[in-house]
Amino acid sequence: MTQPAMLELTDVVKEYRVGEQPVRALDSIDLRLEAGEFTAVIGPSGSGKSTLLHMLGALDRPDSGSIRFQGDEIGDLDEERQSEFRRHRVGFVFQFFNLLPTLTAWENVAVPKLLDGTGLRKARPRALELLDRVGLASRAEHRPAELSGGQMQRVAVARALIMDPPLILADEPTGNLDSKTGASILELLAGVAGSGNSVVMVTHDRGAVDYCDRVVTLGDGRIGADERTTARRTVDA
Ligand SMILES: Nc1ncnc2c1ncn2[C@@H]1O[C@H](COP(=O)(O)OP(=O)(O)OP(=O)(O)O)[C@@H](O)[C@H]1O
Ligand SMILES: [Mg+2]
Repeated sequence: MTQPAMLELTDVVKEYRVGEQPVRALDSIDLRLEAGEFTAVIGPSGSGKSTLLHMLGALDRPDSGSIRFQGDEIGDLDEERQSEFRRHRVGFVFQFFNLLPTLTAWENVAVPKLLDGTGLRKARPRALELLDRVGLASRAEHRPAELSGGQMQRVAVARALIMDPPLILADEPTGNLDSKTGASILELLAGVAGSGNSVVMVTHDRGAVDYCDRVVTLGDGRIGADERTTARRTVDA
């Protein structure tokens, strides 16, 4: 028996209906993603990138087709199981960081633990360890307004890692950063993938693909190209 893939999508279709007009956001997607891969998803605006990411993270369900995550079907989970899945098996990183402004950096990192019923004090050592891993040990007590954009995104990456999920999903993680700061976040994500997680990143940033092992191009809800790259400029995170 071969190992189940980290993610395996078969004939995934997602349509949105606005009034009478159906929009086929994903049109029969077949895709297999392996552990340890850093995959970029690129394509024009409206091509289905965010929709695809939402399916991978069980933020939404496909209309038809199958999404297997480490062998388990996640395309048909009810809402409770979806949120359980998201809490434990996926970490999300967003363009606008989505940190809670009243919490310190380490408390923000600890939030997924709190949502899972762990007390703040108990979650603290792991949160501090992860802040150290993303190079922010000295900013643990800072609130988001006291951090730079790049630092906020590092906090978000640490938060994404705290439940030890096998999959990290990032939608335009460098979209709100200058290119040098963005590059340091890409190195960080490449290091996360290098340590065995799968990382899937939607990006408009052509330079970002240099950090990835694989580039999947979407057009009109279909996979137009799926290329493996060799030039991964990575350092260990
Ligand atoms: N909630 C929704 N209701 C209706 N249509 C939607 C919805 N979300 C997305 N769409 C449509 O589905 C298609 C794919 O949208 P999606 O957000 O996945 O694109 P994208 O590739 O992420 O674009 P961008 O680069 O602009 O973020 C688009 O045509 C969009 O208009
Ligand atoms: Mg999008």
